[in-house]
Amino acid sequence: MQSLHLETLLSTDQIRAKVQELATQIRADYGDSEILLLGVLKGSFHFLSDLSRLLYDISVVDFVQVSSYGAEKSSSGVVQIRKDLDTNIEGKDVLIVEDIVDTGTTLTHLRELLGTRKPRSLKVVALLSKPEARKHKTQVEYVGFEIPNEFVVGYGLDYGERFRNLPYIAILHED
Ligand code: PRP
Repeated sequence: MQSLHLETLLSTDQIRAKVQELATQIRADYGDSEILLLGVLKGSFHFLSDLSRLLYDISVVDFVQVSSYGAEKSSSGVVQIRKDLDTNIEGKDVLIVEDIVDTGTTLTHLRELLGTRKPRSLKVVALLSKPEARKHKTQVEYVGFEIPNEFVVGYGLDYGERFRNLPYIAILHED
């Protein structure tokens, strides 16, 4: 039987410090304007929760669900909108909140779709980015950590729905 083991990549403390750093940067850039934090479900929910509480006085939240992975470890390249957002974003400052940018497929589609709805601004904050895995060039204004091209889980990231609630980020090894 296949056995899995976790190797810590980013500790809870490292994540907490980085989220704080990102919030400070975002606050400095947006000033007092209201930001619509758009969480991309499901992976971003821990990151969005922590980030939004640091920006509580200048932000509102909404969610979209776009899935390209299913239960597989690599992207199928097929992007589906499973849940659209509830907000009319015309004229709003929208900040897409992602746990990870991997091939860039999800973000490329999402930026294209949301761009047609005429937001005042459209930016992206991603806690993790895997530059070596990129297949679609896509802009990410705020990046927490650039990580190697390994399969990672925790802090929202799953493997077949497992490990999402791990309070740190780990590389998943299969023995
Ligand atoms: C993951 C992640 C990003 C996307 C990044 O979502 O949360 O949204 O993949 O990969 P890409 O850059 O190759 O498109 P996933 O589709 O696994 O859904 P989930 O967040 O519900 O786990």
